[in-house]
Formats: sequence, structure tokens, C-alpha cells
Amino acid sequence: MRRPFRTGKAASATPRRGLKASLSSRVKALTAKMTLAEKLGQLNMLSADFAVTGAYVPIRYLDGVRSGAVGSIFNLWGREAARAAQKMALEETRLGIPLLFALDVIHGQRTIFPIPLAEACAFDVGLWERTARAAAAETADDGVHMTFAPMLDVCRDPRWGRISEGPGEDPFVGVAMARAKTRGYQGEDLRKPGNVAATAKHFIAYGAAEAGRDYAAVDVSDRQLDEIYLPPFKAAVEAGVAAIMPAFNDLSGVPMTAHGALLDGLLRRRWRFDGVLISDYTAVQELLNHGVAADLVEAAALAINAGVDVDMMSQAYVTCLPEALERGLVTMATIDAAVARVLTLKERLGLFDDPYRETAALTPGDFAAHRALAREAATRSIVMLQNRREVLPLSPTARRIAMIGPLADSPQDMLGSWAGAGDRTTVVTFLDGLRAAMPDAAIRVSRGVPIDGDDVSGLADAVRAARDADLVLLCVGENDHMSGEASSRADPGLPGRQRELVETVLALGRPSVVILSSGRPLILPWLAAQADAVLATWQLGHEAGHALADVLTGAREPGGRLPVSWPRAVGQIPVFFGQRPTGRPMHPEQQYTSKYLDVANTPEFHFGHGIGYTRFTCGAPRASASTLAPGERLTIEATLKNVGSRSGEETVFLFTRDKVASVARPALELRGFAKIALKPGARGVVRFELRADDLIFPDAALTPVFEPGEVEIYVGPSADPSRLVGASVTLERAAPAASKGRAARRGRL
Ligand code: NOJ
Repeated sequence: MRRPFRTGKAASATPRRGLKASLSSRVKALTAKMTLAEKLGQLNMLSADFAVTGAYVPIRYLDGVRSGAVGSIFNLWGREAARAAQKMALEETRLGIPLLFALDVIHGQRTIFPIPLAEACAFDVGLWERTARAAAAETADDGVHMTFAPMLDVCRDPRWGRISEGPGEDPFVGVAMARAKTRGYQGEDLRKPGNVAATAKHFIAYGAAEAGRDYAAVDVSDRQLDEIYLPPFKAAVEAGVAAIMPAFNDLSGVPMTAHGALLDGLLRRRWRFDGVLISDYTAVQELLNHGVAADLVEAAALAINAGVDVDMMSQAYVTCLPEALERGLVTMATIDAAVARVLTLKERLGLFDDPYRETAALTPGDFAAHRALAREAATRSIVMLQNRREVLPLSPTARRIAMIGPLADSPQDMLGSWAGAGDRTTVVTFLDGLRAAMPDAAIRVSRGVPIDGDDVSGLADAVRAARDADLVLLCVGENDHMSGEASSRADPGLPGRQRELVETVLALGRPSVVILSSGRPLILPWLAAQADAVLATWQLGHEAGHALADVLTGAREPGGRLPVSWPRAVGQIPVFFGQRPTGRPMHPEQQYTSKYLDVANTPEFHFGHGIGYTRFTCGAPRASASTLAPGERLTIEATLKNVGSRSGEETVFLFTRDKVASVARPALELRGFAKIALKPGARGVVRFELRADDLIFPDAALTPVFEPGEVEIYVGPSADPSRLVGASVTLERAAPAASKGRAARRGRL
């Protein structure tokens, strides 16, 4: 431990101003009675053994509960188990402080919804909130008080397996998801039945892991932090999120678990975050591996001084903080402040008054409603990437269908990673769903090849099945543990021999649909030219098969749109729509311009891409005024027309571009998204709001500025520049008739 890390210590040695004053009399009285061991117990979080979510550590967690050495438990669920452990804490410890139970409820507890990246495709904040509410109700019903979600890591690198858990590449989407999920999990009041505490994670920039390798170092600029990675967390704090989990990674050399400037400094002091900071799994101990602590005592001191209240699985606080106190590395005031925050969270959850929180159990009707919601969410998460020869929707005359591939009937892989307490035996697989939707069709199934490995003995059978079919559905992709934590892939294409299977079958020339199941965009540049139709179905959860059948048959529109640019080559990564302009824009015939010799600059599919069963035109955006001054807002409208022959729904995105500013602004910045459903031939208007505040950006010194001048506004169905229609507005200082000269543009707010 070297000097600079003392900054964190000094900063947090004085508890955050106002904290003491805002503590309840119960928390104050309790803290006054507690011994050091009892206090440290409250800061200790251990895993039960219902699930394993990190390196195995042999722990007798119930012994810890009995001795008061544990304040919270995760990876335990079910009313009985929770009641038994809670009873122990209440009746066998001196002070009877209730336990807090937490769990990774990432996309559902009993009912599994689509993985977050898939759900992001729906671009529907109401849906995001409703699935979180349903998940919260099931979590609470299972005796659990807190989820380690939402995961808000913006990510532009599909090699990183955890891209599956988050909102995709864009901070605006991350902000919208942060608000919706926090509201959905927590409701208005944490005490109310069916609400659980949310944990925004992983703070910060975990999605920028070097080379997409999980747990690797992160080194991003302060500008990137301000513009890309911090906004979703700020939105979660403003929405009242109960907890935040620092990320495993270091940020430019400072591990987040010891980052006093960002945890205590930014979160607590500047943003006034008054919740609990919970370390990630063994992250306190990992400070030794990071090389910033010489022993566990130093590691514990670094983390608590930086502002981390709860030590998950390292047992460093409980075992080492007494010595850290003796060595003068930490003060009692710092420990007390952390204990007070943990007790305050328990109080906010109502645990002191109602430690078992056993309200009326959910009914079969509630679970049925959650399944219906899971089907809706899954249907709206499916992105139709391409549909040549209008293979889809399925022709009602298709009778002989071949379902080929290792994911045609694979329950577990529909659930994806972090499938909570989801029961795999009740998953509706693609095969189940199609059979239910097309009871008269003759459906033949052939696995062809496994997801991974070199076994091609089933190829011949797959070819036979395809040859006899009116339609071939090729179900390929990743299994449930090829994405999520610790699942980075250097070459995220189709694993094993699946490419061979797909190419062999497509070469037969039968009408075919490729159905991709994965936790990330798969890089398959060879596929688009060979396949008629391609659907990205991600991992859709319990209702995967029904949702797929709904879309294939045309009962539902494929409404999903990509929340992430889909690369055509690994070498393009990161490829995203918010790239900054270069001084040498790409020109195909000019050598010294910004391009690759071997691949286009553009992604294979743009952010927002996704096609439906009808077509829309989008008119130019109309702004309610031609100028915008600080404090003002504009309404922007665009008229859509359904020019196809079916009813359908379109997603429209609003982007801005500041062409001339004091620092180079991204080529496009997302400002809104909206959906509109129209009958054939009908017109309708989508509306967005653009606030002057939205256009504030960090200047060269990273001070937020609002710069007068012209800003372009674009609307369209994706970030593909060729699909966007534009207009412009003039940003003005508060007083009208401001100078438009660039030198005079700067106007600090
Ligand atoms: C490690 C993961 O990074 C985090 O997301 C999760 O909440 C914890 N393990 C607990 O399971």
C-alpha cells in the first residue's frame, strides 16, 4: 500500500456530511451497543451454496450467522431456507439483527425473461420496468431482499461475454434502462411487499475490459467516463438505487474496489448516493493480486477507506479490520459509517419490524401472468436481421419443416447465464413452440452437430432432413455458458462445426431461416450472402419457443432492434455508431484515409437495425422551434407511413450531431427512441423531447458546457447514415440574438 491510496482514506475518515444527522434513532442506538466484532459481522457477506457464482470458497455460512459474523447472505432462496437462517440470526445472536438476503436476479427469478441484451432490443422502457417488477415479486416471494441488478455496463466489444447482461453500446439506452429497472425492482417504497433493493453494477467501465477479456484492466479517458460509462450509474443514483457494486477491474491502475476518488468522492460526496457499496465476489482479497496491497489487512483498509461497506466473500473485513485499526490504517469512524449504511438499508427494507417479510405468497395466477409477460418480452426481443425472398412469415402451406441444429430443442440454452431459480424442465424450446403453433405440420428434427466439438456424424441426417423439407429452420449458436461472466471469446463466431452444418444445409437451396441463439452478436460475415432469412433470438428465457413461433408465423411482428452495432470482423472491434469523426474520413479511392484494406468500416448491421414484415417511410424531423436556449426544450416530430401491406410497428431513433464544437463530438448521439404501430397505408406521428440540457457536453477541460451554434437533428430506423433524415436547430445563449461566431460560442452553464 503506497501513499496515493491514502487519499481515499483521508476522504472517508470523516463520515459523509449529513449521514449521522440522517440516521434513525434505532440505527444510532444499535450502533452504540455493538462490539467491534458485531459491527464487522454486519459488513460481511457470504454465499450460501444454492448456486456457485465465483471461485469456490469452503464456508460454513450458517456457523457465521450463529456467531454474528455474517450480516448478509447471497445465493440462498426459498421461504423455508430464508426463514431458518433468519430465525438463527434473530434468536441466536446477542443483538438479533436481521440478515439481508441477496441474489443475482438478472433476468428473472422463477420465470426467466430474455437476457438483458435481448430485452434491450425491445426499446421499450415500460416493458423493461414490468419484467423487473415481475422478477422482484418472485424474488421477494422467495424470501430474498435484494438483487445484484441492474447491470449497467455499456459495452462495445462482443468478445466480452458479459455484454449479454447489459444494455448494449449506448449510454442513452443505459440511462433509460437504469431508470426503468431501478423503478421496477424497488417500486416506490422498499418496505412494500414485492419490492426488492436493486444494485447498480459494475462501477465503472467494466465493459471496456482490455481486448474483451473478462476481469482485465481498463484504461479509458476521463471523457469516456463522463460521456459513456458514468451516465447510467448517475441515472440509477437519481432513481434512488439502494446499492452499487464496484467492478472487479482497475481503472488506469486503481482497482475499483479501492477507488476512493470515484466511490467515496464521486458517488457519495458529489452525487449524494446514500446507499450501500458492496464489493464484488472476493474483490477485496483480489487487491493483493492487483498489486496494491501487501497483505489482507491492507486490502481491507484500502477497500473500506475507499467507501466499500460490504465485503463479499473475502472475509477480509471480519478477520483483518481489527488489526487495521491497530496499525492505524483505518478509523473507527469509517467502520461505524459503513455499519450505519448497512443497518439503514435493512431498516429501509423494513427488516427490523418484519424480519421474515412473509407476505401472501404469489398465486398460480401471478406466475401465469409472468409467463405471459415473458412471452411478450421474448417476442419483442427477436431481431430479424435479414429476410430475402420473403421467406418469413412462414407460408401457411409449409407442411414439412426441418428443424436442424443443436439449439432446436435445448431447454437450458434458452435460459442463458444467470438463470436464477428458473426451472429448465418448463422451458418452451423452439421445437415445442413450433409444434404448438403448427400442430398440422410435419416437423422433423435433426441435431446435425453439437454446439461445440468436432463430431460431424449427424451431418448426413441433417442433409436428408433438409432435402425433404418445404422449409428449413437452422437453430445454431452458443450454449448458455458461452456468454455471461468469465466467458470471453476471442473469436465470437459459431462454435464447433456449426458453420459447416449451416453451409452444407444452405447449399441445398431449400427456403431456409437461420435462427441464432447467443449472448452476444456473433461475427458471421459469410452468413448473410448464403442465408435467406436470419433471426437473432439471443437467449429468450422460458417462453423462447412460443415467442419464436409467434414471429415465424407472423402472429407477431419481429419488433426487436439492435442495441449494439453488429461487427463484420473481430478486427473492427470496437465498432459503434458514436465514433468521433477523423481528420481523414474514409474515401474508397484515396489511400491516406481512415479505412481497412480488407474489410469495410461499417458494421455488418447498424445499431437499431431490425426489419419487420412491413415497410415504413419516415419524413424529415420537425422541431417546435428553430432555436434552443439553456433551460428550454423542443418537441421534435416525424411522420411515419406504413407503405407495406401488413400492419406493423416501427422503432424510430432520434440522434443529434454537433458538427462544429470546441471539442470533436461523436458522429451521432442518441437522444430518443419511440415506437409506432400503423395499419397498411396509415400515417402517424412520433414525438420526441429534446432538452437544452441534453446537449451539454464536457469541454476540453471536462467542464460541462452548452455551446451556441447549429446542431443537426436526425430521425430514422437505425444509425445507418443512409437511412436518416435530418433538420437543424440553432442553440442560443439565454439572451436572443447571440453571436453565432465559433469563438463567441462558449457559454458555460
Ligand atoms: C460476480 C459478478 O461479477 C457479479 O456480477 C455478481 O453479482 C457476483 N459475482 C455475485 O454472484
